[in-house]
Amino acid sequence: MTAPVTTRSSADLIRAEEPVLAHNYHPLPVVVARAEGTWVQDVEGRRYLDMLAGYSALNFGHRHPALIEAAHRQLDRLTLTSRAFHNDKLAEFAERLAELTGLDMVLPMNTGAEAVESGIKVARKWAYEVKGVPADQATIVVAAENFHGRTTTIVSFSTDETARAGFGPFTPGFRIVPYNDLAALEAAVDETTAAVLIEPIQGEAGVVIPDEGYLAGVRELTRRKGCLFIADEIQSGLGRTGRTLAVEHESVVPDVLLLGKALGGGIVPVSAVVARRDVLGVLRPGEHGSTFGGNPLAAAVGTAVVELLETGEYQRRAAELGVVLRGGLASLVGKGVVGFRARGLWAGVDIDPAIGTGREVSQQLMREGVLVKDTHGSTIRLAPPLTITGEELESALAALEKVLGS
Ligand SMILES: Cc1ncc(COP(=O)(O)O)c(C=O)c1O
Repeated sequence: MTAPVTTRSSADLIRAEEPVLAHNYHPLPVVVARAEGTWVQDVEGRRYLDMLAGYSALNFGHRHPALIEAAHRQLDRLTLTSRAFHNDKLAEFAERLAELTGLDMVLPMNTGAEAVESGIKVARKWAYEVKGVPADQATIVVAAENFHGRTTTIVSFSTDETARAGFGPFTPGFRIVPYNDLAALEAAVDETTAAVLIEPIQGEAGVVIPDEGYLAGVRELTRRKGCLFIADEIQSGLGRTGRTLAVEHESVVPDVLLLGKALGGGIVPVSAVVARRDVLGVLRPGEHGSTFGGNPLAAAVGTAVVELLETGEYQRRAAELGVVLRGGLASLVGKGVVGFRARGLWAGVDIDPAIGTGREVSQQLMREGVLVKDTHGSTIRLAPPLTITGEELESALAALEKVLGS
């Protein structure tokens, strides 16, 4: 990486944000100015190993050459048409994404929350038109401790009071059941149920992995009861867990798949609802849309992302290095780590509260040149780019050991 790009110091830039930027985040005090691969550099030129990867939006690392090249090529030719016209990149993106996921049709959107909102709308429409639920009676069953985004409808079924307080009135039509509890799900689903919407692994909750059989159970239950299974793989999908999709660990194919984050290659926001034809087929012109969804730049980058995943290399790396990650974390249990959950290159690590909060540990790791993010209380989350090397991963684990021991 080259010289810093600004003459203002990190401290100065952080101070400058305070009066002009909404305080809806509490970032670590690091001001990133450049990045390459698994490394970022702050304005003073200090380097940090990125063990968060933009909450999995950077699964392929920063500025992956194939993705940057696809973006540059597209920037030089055509960037936006709106869906008022066709563009020459969208068909290939949809074809290849459908093929990669084993589903039929794609609804391109931009952010993860938009994909979730779109999935909810599609499920409700399917319930009225195909299942025959009486008008405005459709319900969607979701899991407690979920995280699906920040819109008014989505926080309507959040169980996180910080995300909800002050934002009512909320959208009706959601039933919340405990995660990883098939009996509770069975009791909540009835003839009004359009869909069950869950994360195959709950990322924001602390990388909570359900018991073996839960996802297959949700698949069986939704099929038997005649409602849709919507899997929100916005964070868990696209290689992170060692498979293209986290549901593949139980050989499950949902009816509706929500993708985002890494689909944009860390360059542009790209999300999608991917579903069977009989589900997405309920949408007709004018019923849903987005000015930017499916724009040619997004489609070009999204296609390049799919191309990387088609090789299987990133899924393989996540699976192989996931073994190193698990091993490293297992060796820290009892030495500052009280427990952890990991799948592929993704882990939620519960730190002994006597050592510090997740935030404090994250700050100490930052001083050791490793960037992570706390989730709840004393839990930190590790989700490095899937391009990380074994040595880099070992060095991050060594930094964690040092911080926990100091
Ligand atoms: C599982 C899941 N769904 C949806 C979202 C929302 O995505 P976005 O922040 O792009 O709206 C997130 C973001 O963290 C997520 O983890």
